[in-house]
Amino acid sequence: MYPCSNPELTAAVSAAGGIGIMQPISLTYVHGHDYRAGIRLMQRLTDKPIGMNALIEKSSEKYRRRMETWIDIALEEGIRFFVTSLGKPDWVVKRVHAVGGLVYHDVTERKWAQIGLDNGVDGLICVNNRAGGHAGPTATRQLYEELADLNVPLVCAGGIGDSQDFWEALETGYAACQLGTRFIASLECLSSQAYKQAVIDAEASDIVLSERVTGVPVSVINNDYIQRSGTQLHGWQRWMLSGKRSKHWLRLYFALKSIWQLKRASLDESARQNYWQAGKSVAGIHRIDSCEDIVQQLVSRPVP
Ligand SMILES: Cc1cc2nc3c(=O)[nH]c(=O)nc-3n(C[C@H](O)[C@H](O)[C@H](O)COP(=O)(O)O)c2cc1C
Repeated sequence: MYPCSNPELTAAVSAAGGIGIMQPISLTYVHGHDYRAGIRLMQRLTDKPIGMNALIEKSSEKYRRRMETWIDIALEEGIRFFVTSLGKPDWVVKRVHAVGGLVYHDVTERKWAQIGLDNGVDGLICVNNRAGGHAGPTATRQLYEELADLNVPLVCAGGIGDSQDFWEALETGYAACQLGTRFIASLECLSSQAYKQAVIDAEASDIVLSERVTGVPVSVINNDYIQRSGTQLHGWQRWMLSGKRSKHWLRLYFALKSIWQLKRASLDESARQNYWQAGKSVAGIHRIDSCEDIVQQLVSRPVP
């Protein structure tokens, strides 16, 4: 999770029996670690495997080269599980398969799933309409039905706040669940107390989609700040999105703005009203727990 994944959190999720996914920009820019040293820190904190998230959206050559280096270092350091988001993951798959690793691809619709599979991914992270981050348009069960015949493991991403949600997803047929929001309200997450409390206090109906953060809809808590600033793009931004070249510049503007703004929103205790990303799984989140306790609670079957 950009910006909420600090190395202590990622390692704690793996130690607890999940697989913590490291986010390289969060590791370096937000939490200030040298990339390789940050991976080694996680590996000192747990001997269980960790994964890496590679946002591979087609952007500048410079970003692509940086991502290639990050993936290569991750492989050198023994990471073998990768989650790709956006873009065409063929070049990631090639590198990772060469050393026997696995690549799962984030998808919100069948057409992206097909692109992922055509490019060799091993499984799909199925991002539904309850997810934190960039949510998809489709409900949990419907997305499963849309993708079930593709015959690869499907991971449910979105809306999992407690063991009831977790078991429902498995009973639907998903092989596993990917959680974000639940782990913000954890002891090991370094996000501010104000942000964690906002996750605990929010109901599913408090989660709205804002285009103002990255230019595409992102799930955020509907606080005073969001109500004041609105959730829709400005007219000039829509106009820029309609042109091929201007779209590129607008994307760059949002990338730089959101990277800075989300970092501040997550870490700064005084930034009480800001972009607090969270999914509708807030409905099942009522307290801050350790990752160990969160995973134990999730995997315990709910009493009927
Ligand atoms: C604060 C936050 C940041 C996120 N950042 C990323 C990211 O950097 N890359 C990514 O692939 N997904 C990101 N996601 C999406 C999560 O990986 C996951 O799919 C999602 O959180 C699942 O929904 P949930 O929040 O209801 O558990 C983020 C989610 C949240 C809540």
